[in-house]
Amino acid sequence: MRLFVAVRLSDEMKEALLSAQNALFDRGVRGDFTPEENLHLTLAFIGEYPAPEPVMDALQNLRFEPVDLTLDRLGAFDSVWWAGLKENGELRHLAEKLRRALAAAGIPYDRKRFSPHITLIRSPRWEKPLDLGAAAVPQCRMRVEEISLMCSTRGKHGMIYTPVGTRRSRETREGEPSL
Ligand code: 2AM
Repeated sequence: MRLFVAVRLSDEMKEALLSAQNALFDRGVRGDFTPEENLHLTLAFIGEYPAPEPVMDALQNLRFEPVDLTLDRLGAFDSVWWAGLKENGELRHLAEKLRRALAAAGIPYDRKRFSPHITLIRSPRWEKPLDLGAAAVPQCRMRVEEISLMCSTRGKHGMIYTPVGTRRSRETREGEPSL
C-alpha cells in the first residue's frame, strides 16, 4: 500500500483552492490540475508499506491540539505549483510530532524537511509570463481537528486518495460523550 498522513481540507478551503486554480486557467495556464476531491495537505509521506494497522497504532498514541491553517500564497517546486500556508509554528509542531511518532514505531517516511503545501497543478504549462508569487489567493482559514492516514492508488483517470483511518485532536476527542 502507498500510504501518507494528511490533513483533509474543509469544503470552504477546497472552494478557495478551486478558485485559485480557475484564475490560473483563465490566465492560460494548462497542466494536470488536482481534482477537488484530491486536494489535501501532506504531513508525512510513508510510501509503500505492507499494512495500515501499525501506522494507525502509531497515530493512536499521538496527542495534538487543533491547528489553524490560513492560505497564503502560490509557489512552485520544479514541476508542481502549489498553494502555501501562512508560517505556523503549531502546524510545524504537529508534523514534527507525527514524524517522531512514526520514527518511534519504526515506520519509514520521507525525511525531507516539512514544507507545507497543497499541490494545485502538476506539470504546468503557460505561454504568457506569469508572476506566480503575485497571483491573488482567496482568503481562507480552517481549523484542523483531525489528521488522516491516506492510501493512494492509481485509477483509470489519475490518483485516487482514500482515507484509511483518522486521529482526532485532543480537544475534539475530549468533547465526545463517553459511552
Ligand atoms: P506533492 O503533492 O508535492 O507531490 C501523495 O503522493 C502526497 O504525498 C502528495 O501530497 C505528495 O506531495 C506527498 N509526497 C511527499 N513526499 C513524497 C514523495 N517522496 N513521493 C510522492 N509523494 C510525496
